[in-house]
Amino acid sequence: MTPLWKTDAPLPLGSDFVPGARHDVVVVGAGITGLTTAVMLARAGHEVAVIDAGEVAELATGGNTGKLSLLQGHQLAEIRRHHPAALVRAYVEANRAGMDWLTAFADGAGVSYTRRTDHSYAQGRGGLETLQAQHDAAQEAGLPTRMLTPEELPSVPFPISGAVSLDDQVAIDPVRLARALVEELRAAGGTLHTGVRVTGAHALPDTRVETALGPLFAHHIVIATGTPILDRGLYFAKIRGLRSYCVSFRVPGEVPEGTFLSVDGPTRSIRSVSDADGPVGTAQLVVGGNGHPVGRSDGEKAAVEDIVSWTQAHFPGAEETHRWSAQDYESHNLIPFVGAMPRGLGRIRFATGYAKWGLSNAPAAAMRLTAEILGTSWNDRPRWMNTFATRLTMAADLVRGATEGGKVAAALASGWSEAESRSVPVPQPDEGEGVVANRAGLPVAISTVDGVTRAVDAVCPHLGGVLEWNDAECTWDCPLHASRFAPDGTRIEGPALRDLKELPRTGRR
Ligand SMILES: Cc1cc2nc3c(=O)[nH]c(=O)nc-3n(C[C@H](O)[C@H](O)[C@H](O)COP(=O)(O)OP(=O)(O)OC[C@H]3O[C@@H](n4cnc5c(N)ncnc54)[C@H](O)[C@@H]3O)c2cc1C
Ligand code: FES
Repeated sequence: MTPLWKTDAPLPLGSDFVPGARHDVVVVGAGITGLTTAVMLARAGHEVAVIDAGEVAELATGGNTGKLSLLQGHQLAEIRRHHPAALVRAYVEANRAGMDWLTAFADGAGVSYTRRTDHSYAQGRGGLETLQAQHDAAQEAGLPTRMLTPEELPSVPFPISGAVSLDDQVAIDPVRLARALVEELRAAGGTLHTGVRVTGAHALPDTRVETALGPLFAHHIVIATGTPILDRGLYFAKIRGLRSYCVSFRVPGEVPEGTFLSVDGPTRSIRSVSDADGPVGTAQLVVGGNGHPVGRSDGEKAAVEDIVSWTQAHFPGAEETHRWSAQDYESHNLIPFVGAMPRGLGRIRFATGYAKWGLSNAPAAAMRLTAEILGTSWNDRPRWMNTFATRLTMAADLVRGATEGGKVAAALASGWSEAESRSVPVPQPDEGEGVVANRAGLPVAISTVDGVTRAVDAVCPHLGGVLEWNDAECTWDCPLHASRFAPDGTRIEGPALRDLKELPRTGRR
């Protein structure tokens, strides 16, 4: 499951980790949020270290579809449904600022990209109302969108009953971008550490992050780990992790030039790839979709296969080159969370909740974090920043939060009762399969991958969710707050900080 974007050049390696080192700012996470924040602060004269548990662009930043767009499917209509027009306007202004920063950075760094017309499209007549709402919300926020009929999109080979379009959006290779951000950070005197997991961050007695290799000290810490790895503020319960799938293809015929995202039916996100906006000579098309809350799916492998067969039906002769998956976080109020964490004395900040639109939301968040760390006066901050900072919680935010809270509670209860209903010994899982069973009252997760059968604790070390097997990626995924683990129990991502305990195997052939 390697993303297309990671195939053409090696990722930058981190420098040696020196425990106890002091920096002006330590940024945790080398995704788009961490790297753009680090570059902005380094440009402003701060000495910045970025530290990542994996490699650069390890998670969502390396696994997205590389569309930089202000149209964003039906996101504007969704926000408008729950919030005043001024907030949608601020959201669009923030994303425009993020997009402008990123394209200016790419121009300066020699990262090529292409300008495209982006389309939100309806697959059936039922989606036309959503398209109209998206068009209205976009226009109200000052975007020059157009409503299109299927006849105006004759080269589109998949079912379409209408679309909203916005010209002059961008398709880019997100990993090329991440590489260039690291180069600029280093040129400005910053440091990168990879393969070092952060296990805590504290404001007192010294402001520091903890790692297995020792601490790093700083005046400011930025937690840019997707979902925050710190539980303070309970942000893990104010967002939901959504996992989706992407497949790239070699296609013999023409592919549409625009970029597309469906607003109804099974999600389809479609973009073509050229040498200017993706790895040279590898694939011509990326199709994504079939997202679901992490750990709550009827079958991850089936979700990927569905994308493959859909694409082969509409692009005859399409040949799969890569398949991958990633997750991003949606805040219950649909607006990213950015700012200082509670009990961090204004020295620990974070950003999350981009709802799969991080390529523009993350640089916007980075601008906000930078303004806060530099102490930029309110008068000198753009209007959108001040609008976000003074926003009140709306009733709809609470309702969305309560609905998700109910689903989390249901997942917790059903995970434990399903585990109880199946006692060890259980048949040894087939290759690529995993099962949760009950051993003396405790759920144990048993899987077979690459011929090795292993048993690990099936209880998520974050807050006790019972893990679910992900058959596309052979991982244990938590249906509560989206932590994920490898078959040997190694933590991959999410708010859990520890690995799962490896247990003696109990199975039968
Ligand atoms: C399938 C998919 C398609 C998408 N397509 C688009 C798109 O076309 N356009 C768009 O704008 N957005 C898109 N997005 C959203 C976008 O990819 C994300 O919003 C964005 O990448 C989030 O960046 P981030 O830096 O906040 O998080 P991430 O990229 O997830 O980075 C977090 C980093 O933190 C590190 N980390 C985590 N825990 C620790 C720890 N304990 N210690 C140290 N490091 C840690 C991780 O290793 C990781 O590198 C898509 C998302 C998905 C899932
Ligand atoms: S991620 Fe919170 S319980 Fe698993």
